[in-house]
Amino acid sequence: MDEILTRIVSIKEAFQQNLQAIQTLKEFDDLKVSFLGKKSQLQALLAEMKNLTVDSRRVVGPALQELKAFIENTIEQTRQEFVEKKARSAIEKEQNFDVTAYKPGISFGKLHPYSQAVEEIEDIFLSMGYEILDGPEFESDFYNFTALNIPQDHPARDMYDTFWTNKKSMLMRTHTSPVQVRSMQTKQLPLAAIVPGRTYRHEAVDATHDFMFMQCEGFFVDKDVTVAHLFATAQTFLKQLFKKDELDIRIRPGFFPFVEPGFEIDMRCPFCTQGCSVCKRSTWMEVFPGGMIHPNVLKAGGIDPDVYSGFAFGFGLSRLVMLKYGIDDIRHLYGGKLRFLEQF
Ligand code: DAH
Repeated sequence: MDEILTRIVSIKEAFQQNLQAIQTLKEFDDLKVSFLGKKSQLQALLAEMKNLTVDSRRVVGPALQELKAFIENTIEQTRQEFVEKKARSAIEKEQNFDVTAYKPGISFGKLHPYSQAVEEIEDIFLSMGYEILDGPEFESDFYNFTALNIPQDHPARDMYDTFWTNKKSMLMRTHTSPVQVRSMQTKQLPLAAIVPGRTYRHEAVDATHDFMFMQCEGFFVDKDVTVAHLFATAQTFLKQLFKKDELDIRIRPGFFPFVEPGFEIDMRCPFCTQGCSVCKRSTWMEVFPGGMIHPNVLKAGGIDPDVYSGFAFGFGLSRLVMLKYGIDDIRHLYGGKLRFLEQF
């Protein structure tokens, strides 16, 4: 019997040692199996009980039950503490996370090429005294079409593959031009502003078309504004954007319902002198549509066309960004691929 009691003490010691070495949750299960399972020493001792005298059993029996309960309870309690400690240290780790810490080898973020180009374009126009305006992308039929001299049922509406919404007479703006009338209604003259922003058209997506793209509207309204101001503004802007001391422009007639007369302003290809793939061998590129603001548009903005005049233009920002950086597929711009973005 003394021998059995000694074994009970040594089982308890072995258990406590093993318990201290535990590193993972699974090891608690393993420990339970090896100290309480069928092949455990404890079970062997329980089996040996039948060979003992009745008196011995009275001593050994309770001692074994006590050992069993001790092992069970200790495992349960230590396991609970282990789980809680783990959770606490995870929370502490999060709380102590230093977002400003410098990690060698980590690369710093930078602005998207589109944002870089917009900042540059804004700087050029700010230096010419323009302000930067914004307008809603979810726009009304009135500002997107009617106020821009495109009445209901006018065929010019077909130029824009519009995303209509299930809210009556509301749409995703097809161009940034609506901000012209919106700002005429609310701002003082003279008014010189650009509006870079998103526009939407129901287009089949390919390398040069997307259902969402960026445009930049611009306008200047004051007394005695002429086409000469428009052409000079276009040329100054394009020269600065493409970093050229000289950059010829060419003017052709163009139709837009909200301007009269309307123009297509082309620039000499900034990448070649003899014709290249970017300018399709013509040495000219169509980049800057504009014209003199139609009297009906000025009227819609609450401005007297007999006293004031103005010019407006609206170029494709996405297209200009693609030209500036030599990007050949519009889908790269909004694709969010790091391999593409890291080049800028
Ligand atoms: N809103 C026109 C479009 O999306 C672009 C445009 C052309 C704007 C001529 C103008 C302009 O202000 O004068 O097709």
